[in-house]
Amino acid sequence: TAPLPAPADLPAPVINPNATIVLGKRYLRKGPDGRPLEDETGLFWRVALAIASQEANYGEERDVTATARQFYDLMTSYKFLPNSPTLMNAGTPLGQLAACFVLPVGDSMEEIFDAVKFAALIHKSGGGTGFSFSRLRAKHSRVGSTGGVASGPVSFMRIFNTATEQVKQGGTRRGANMGILRVDHPDIKEFITCKEHEHALDNFNISVGLTEAFMQAVDANRDYDLIDPRDGIATARQSAREIFELLVRKAWESGDPGIVFLDRINRDNPTPALGEIESTNPCGEQPLLPYEACNLGSINLALIFSPAAPDGVDWEELARIIRLSVRFLDNVIDASQYPLPIITEMVRKNRKIGLGVMGFADLLYRVRVPYDSPEALVLAERLMSFIQAEAQKASAALAAERGPFPAFDVSVFPAKGQGPLRNATTTTIAPTGTLSIIAGCSSGVEPLFALSFARHVMDGEKLVETNPYFRAALDAAGLSRPDIIAEVARKGSVAHMEEIPEALRRIFVTAMDIEPVWHLRMQAAFQKYTDNAVSKTVNLPNTATKEEIAGIYRMAFELGCKGVTVYRDGCKTAQVLCTGEAG
Ligand code: CDP
Repeated sequence: TAPLPAPADLPAPVINPNATIVLGKRYLRKGPDGRPLEDETGLFWRVALAIASQEANYGEERDVTATARQFYDLMTSYKFLPNSPTLMNAGTPLGQLAACFVLPVGDSMEEIFDAVKFAALIHKSGGGTGFSFSRLRAKHSRVGSTGGVASGPVSFMRIFNTATEQVKQGGTRRGANMGILRVDHPDIKEFITCKEHEHALDNFNISVGLTEAFMQAVDANRDYDLIDPRDGIATARQSAREIFELLVRKAWESGDPGIVFLDRINRDNPTPALGEIESTNPCGEQPLLPYEACNLGSINLALIFSPAAPDGVDWEELARIIRLSVRFLDNVIDASQYPLPIITEMVRKNRKIGLGVMGFADLLYRVRVPYDSPEALVLAERLMSFIQAEAQKASAALAAERGPFPAFDVSVFPAKGQGPLRNATTTTIAPTGTLSIIAGCSSGVEPLFALSFARHVMDGEKLVETNPYFRAALDAAGLSRPDIIAEVARKGSVAHMEEIPEALRRIFVTAMDIEPVWHLRMQAAFQKYTDNAVSKTVNLPNTATKEEIAGIYRMAFELGCKGVTVYRDGCKTAQVLCTGEAG
C-alpha cells in the first residue's frame, strides 16, 4: 500500500548546516542512481508515519495521521530523536530500527560462525553488536573432535573483526562491536593486551567483565581462581592485583579495555528467569540478554530550558515529551523487523526501550551552572529521576492499554509490588554521536569537548562549530571580537583566557577543564536513575598517572556505576567509534 502523503500544511523542518551534510549522506533514502528519493520533510514524515501506524495493532481508534503529526512535530522540534537506525530504516523495506544487539557465542565452531553471520546481518541493518567471549575454551585447551588445540577467544575475535570490516552498516557506516571477557577466564591476560600491537581488532571496543569477588580480591591483595568455562573447574590461581594493574596500565596507554561490573548489571536484570546478562552493546550503555535487541531515543535537554521557570527547567513540557517519546519507542518495537526470528521473539518478550538525554551540557550553560559543581549533580539527579519516574508511568499507562510485556509475570516487578509495565526497561543514556549533530546540541551527558572546533566527518568534510550559548554569552558581554573568537577556536577552552571574565570561565567549562572525579560523579548521578547504563567517558589529561586511573576504577565501583571508560588525552588509539565520526 502506498504511504499516506504528507499533509500539505506540514511545516518543513529547520535543518542546521551540519545536519544537512549528515542527513544527506546517510539518512535520506536514495534511489539506485544514488540520488535522494526524499527531502528532510520526507524523511521525518516517513519515520513519523511508520511509527504511528503501529497503533492500529492495538485496535486503538486513533487517527494515524494525527499521531504521525505529533511524532513529526516531536522530532522536527529536535526535542526528541530516535536512534539512527530508526531514522534511516523506518518505513523502508529493510525496516530494522534498533541500535543495540547482544549475541551469544557458544563454544563450538558452528556456534562461533553462526554468531559471525548473525553479526554481519545486524551490521548490514545498521545495528551494533555486543558479545561475551567468556564461554569459549581457553587457548591451547584440547579440541575433542580433532585432537588438536583451541585458538582461544582473542583469536576468534579477529574473525568477527574482519567480517565487520567488510560489511558496511546499511551501506552507510561501519559496524561496531563490544567484546567482553570475564576476568576469571584463563585467557584474560591475552585479552587485556589484545589491542596492543595490531589493528586486527579495530572494530571492537573491549571491556573486562569484573566480578565483586575479583574487586574484593584486589582490595585484600589475594589470588583468585581462573576457571575453565567448559566445566567451571578452577585451572589456575592468579594474583588479582597483578591483573588489576595490567588493566590499569593498558587503559592508561590506550583507553582500552574498559571495565564492566557484571554482578551489578545482573542485579538490575529485570528478567533473570530469561537468562543472565553477559554483555552490553558496543558503547556500553545497554546491557542485554543473549539475542535481545533494544531501540534507544534521546530527549534534548537544551530545549527544555525555560527562562521563566525558577530553576530554568520546563518540567511540564519535559513530562509531555517523555510520554510521547515512550509511546514512540514502544511502537518502534513493533515496527522493527529483526534479522533473526529468535531476536524478534526475545525483543517482544521484554519490550525494552532506552529513553535517555542529550544536550545536558548545553542546559547547564543555559542555567549558568558549572558542570563540575554540586549544583550540576543535583540537577542531573532531579532530571533523571523525573525522566525515569515519568517514563515508568507512561509505560504503565501503555500496559493498561496494550497489556504488559509478555515476560512481566516472570520478571522481578511483581515481587516488588510494581504494577504492570509495558517495557522491562525504559531508560538508557546513549552517546548520541550522530543524533546530537542532527539536533545541534551537546552529546549525551558529556561536557563539551571544545567551545569551538572543527569537526571532521565522513570523506574529509569539515564542520566548524561554536557553541551557541557561549557565543550568546560573549555577545552579551560585548566580547564577540574576532581576536577572541579566533583564540577560543584555537584553544577550545576559555579556562586560561584572561580576557574572559572569571564568572563566564567558571560556567563555560569543557571536558578537559573538568577534574576526572567530576566526570565520574556525573556518570554516577545519572546512573542512579537509569534502568540500563550510561555512556560516558572519563577524560584525563595527558599527565594523569596510572594510580589515578586505578582510583577512578575503584571509585566507579563504589559510586554504583555499571562500568567505566577512561580516555587519557593524546594516548595511543584514536577513539572514533560512536563519536559520530566513524565513517
Ligand atoms: O547518535 P546515534 O543514534 O547514531 O548513535 P549513538 O547514540 O552514538 O550510539 C548508540 C548505539 O548505536 C551504540 O552503542 C551502538 O550500539 C550503535 N552504533 C553502531 O552500531 N555503530 C556506530 N558507528 C555508532 C553507533
